[in-house]
Amino acid sequence: MPKNPNADSIKIARKYLDSLVLESRLLSAGVPDTSVEILGTTFDTPVMTGALSHLKNGMGAYAKGAALANALCSIGMGDNDSFGDALKSGAKVIKVIKPYEDRKEIYSRIYYAESHGAFGVGMDIEHAPDGEGNLSSVCAGMPLLLPSADELKTMIQSTPLPFFIKGVLSVQDALKAKRLGAAGIILSHHNSIMSWAIPPFALLKDIRKAVGEDFIVIADGGIEDGFDAFKALALGADLVSIARPLMGPYNETGAEGVRDTLLQFTKELKAAMVRTGTKDLKTIDPTVIHEAWWL
Ligand SMILES: Cc1cc2nc3c(=O)[nH]c(=O)nc-3n(C[C@H](O)[C@H](O)[C@H](O)COP(=O)(O)O)c2cc1C
Repeated sequence: MPKNPNADSIKIARKYLDSLVLESRLLSAGVPDTSVEILGTTFDTPVMTGALSHLKNGMGAYAKGAALANALCSIGMGDNDSFGDALKSGAKVIKVIKPYEDRKEIYSRIYYAESHGAFGVGMDIEHAPDGEGNLSSVCAGMPLLLPSADELKTMIQSTPLPFFIKGVLSVQDALKAKRLGAAGIILSHHNSIMSWAIPPFALLKDIRKAVGEDFIVIADGGIEDGFDAFKALALGADLVSIARPLMGPYNETGAEGVRDTLLQFTKELKAAMVRTGTKDLKTIDPTVIHEAWWL
C-alpha cells in the first residue's frame, strides 16, 4: 500500500460523492416509487446487500434481512452450507465467487448455485492480484488467480444463471464484460483494494452510455446513506450495494438490523427523490446533480 494517505480509494470516493450537490424540483414532485425490476423480478428498493465474507452468524440471517426488505442480496466468500442458508431465507441471492486458482472450486459453486435456486452468480475478479504485481494471491488459505477474458466467457456460458463481474472499474472492462455475455457488472474497487482508484460513481455516466440500458450496473464503494444512493442511481446505476454499513447492524440484531438499515437508506433515497421531483427510478434525471467546484 502506498504511504500517501491520499491514495485511499474510499477517501477519494467520499470526496467525489461530497462534491455532488442536488437541486430541488418541488413543482414536479410526486410520491416516489423506489421499486426496480431486475431480470423480471421486482424489488422494493434499489439498495441491495453487498457481498461480505466471514459473517459471524452465517449468511442466512444476512440474506433474511434482504428478503424482509424485498431487496436483492449478494453474498461473499463462505461455504456451501452457509450459502444454502442464505437461499433458504427466501432472498434473491447472487453468490459472488472468488476467482479460485483451482477452477473446479468455481464450477462446483456455480453448480451449487444453479441447483439450489440462486438468482445469479458473480465473481470478484478484483480480489485476485496481490499487492506485489502478481496476478495471484491467497485468500483465507485458498489460492486465487485472475481469470482471462476467455476463461470468464467459458464460466459465463457454463450456466443459465445471470453472471455478474465484480470489480469492473473502467468503460473498457464494462464493454468487455457485456461482450463476454455477463448480465451485468458490479462497479467496485472492493473497499480500496486498489490504491488511487477512480470512484466507481465517477464512471457511471460514461459506462451507462457505453453499455446501453439493457445491461445491469450495480455500484458500490462508500455509499453511506440514501442521498449517496440517489446520486449513484441518477448517474446511471440500476442498483447500489452496501456492505460495511450493514456489518454493525447485522452483528447487533441480525436479520432485523440488515432490514432496518436497508429501509433507512430507502427512506433517505425517497427524501432525495421527493425534493428532486423524481417520481421513479426509470425517470431519474442526472441533471439534478451539480458538481460543486467551490466545495
Ligand atoms: C469484511 C468485508 C468482507 C468482504 N468480503 C467480500 C467477499 O467475500 N466478496 C466480495 O466480492 N466482496 C467482499 N467485500 C467487499 C464488499 O462487497 C464491497 O465491495 C466493499 O466493502 C465496498 O462497499 P462498502 O463501501 O459498502 O463496504 C468485503 C468487504 C468487507 C468490508
